Amino acid sequence: MTTHILQIIYLIASVTFIIGLKFLGNPATARKGNLIAAFGMGIAIFGTIFLYTSPESGQHLHNLAFIFGALIVGTVLGFIAAKKVQMTAMPEMVSLFNGMGGACAMLISIIEFQHLSDGSLVGLESKLFIIIVGMIIGSISFSGSMIAWGKLSGNVKDKSFGKQQLINVGLLLVILVLAYFTIMGGVMDASTLFYAVLTLSLLYGILFVLPIGGADMPVVISLLNSFTGVAAACGGFLYDNKVMLVGGILVGSAGTLLTIVMCKAMNRSLLNVLIGNFGGGATGDAATSSSFEGSIKEVSASDAAILMRYAKKVIIVPGYGLAVAQAQHVVHDLELLLESEGVEVKYAIHPVAGRMPGHMNVLLAESNVSYDKLVEMEEINPEFNTTDVVLVVGANDVVNPAAKTDPNSPIYGMPILDVENAANVIVNKRSMKAGYAGIENELFYKPKTSMLFGDAKKALTELVSEIKALG
Ligand code: TAP
Repeated sequence: MTTHILQIIYLIASVTFIIGLKFLGNPATARKGNLIAAFGMGIAIFGTIFLYTSPESGQHLHNLAFIFGALIVGTVLGFIAAKKVQMTAMPEMVSLFNGMGGACAMLISIIEFQHLSDGSLVGLESKLFIIIVGMIIGSISFSGSMIAWGKLSGNVKDKSFGKQQLINVGLLLVILVLAYFTIMGGVMDASTLFYAVLTLSLLYGILFVLPIGGADMPVVISLLNSFTGVAAACGGFLYDNKVMLVGGILVGSAGTLLTIVMCKAMNRSLLNVLIGNFGGGATGDAATSSSFEGSIKEVSASDAAILMRYAKKVIIVPGYGLAVAQAQHVVHDLELLLESEGVEVKYAIHPVAGRMPGHMNVLLAESNVSYDKLVEMEEINPEFNTTDVVLVVGANDVVNPAAKTDPNSPIYGMPILDVENAANVIVNKRSMKAGYAGIENELFYKPKTSMLFGDAKKALTELVSEIKALG
């Protein structure tokens, strides 16, 4: 009876994961989606703890004190980390959490291998296969995510050495060959081989992520996330646990799709991300001399205020700098103020603005900007030529015309926001430093463009008070 109830709980949980994912696709429903999926995961966990009975021994789970002790520690740590994390450090946290998922899959495989290897392994090849696949993918995901986390927090630097790709391919081949002999037997003690595969897989995760350009980490994290999903699905196979299987497959496929979408939005192939070392040194050197015609024109906050206050239509283009400055609340104040003066205001959202998928949507949702004001790139691009003022706040690459005009540019082919078509462009950033791609931006030298230098929060606060002073 309890087994049937548990299966129904797993079914309900699986459905909540799918509904949750669907709701996560829209900022208006994303929070609800998260809660629905978390509820599903909650009932699956507690259902397993209290209702699972072993088909072999007929026993329920014991060691409840250890299980609840670990649950409490994990919940408290996760809750505090999620509450405290800065928006700009979100990819870092996702990476850390993903690494923990990979580690879980790895540990499950180690424990299950130990159970199996207590007896003879003959005839258990299919089970061994799943254990080893889960262990290899889980450990690559774990060590790779830890390196990604270290890179994003600035503690690990990009490192590539000669023939790195060759060494990585060679290492992967060795892992596969050793895994084959662990399963099929006949060469060496299976335990020795198993732990050799484990060690080499952990090493592979490190070497795989180490040379990838630091700024490409969000794409890599998404890829590692899909690995963790597959490793968890192996656990589902192993325990014949449907909810683990469905959850793992959903994470695996969602991670893969997100990886593809991100690469597409940057107009780069996954291979280019993995071996391109793109953006590695793109901390942004100051452009002391420019190769462009034209000169930089600065605008004061009071002149910018006049331009925007008397405009009919203003489009705000948020970028990574808005997140760095935490200027989402003041940008919302600016929007409300302009609207109260009869100006139409919209936000242009580029799919890879910022440093993680949906970065700008999440940021602006935090300051209660209405979702219908956030307009996707394809929809907003035709509107720029009927716009009086575009205010670019801390964005750079996503408005760089080189993506359309310079075939030698690393961002050539990436779709961009056509801000140049507006009557006036005001760009707010702190200096002439480059963005993520580490390249100059001709937009800043165009006759229509004026630079409003300064930290976004400070500059926008000044802009708001200047507009208020206009009455
Ligand atoms: P970026 O091109 O990185 O430019 C951000 C600009 O913000 C910088 O040039 C910087 O100039 C400015 N800035 C930094 N701090 C600021 C502050 N406190 N106040 C005002 N400005 C500040 O950003 P973007 O236009 O959003 O483009 C995103 C880039 O990241 C794209 O190249 C994209 O491919 C890449 N990327 C995105 C993702 C996802 S999923 N979103 C994932 C991986 C890579 P100053 O230093 O002069 O202020």
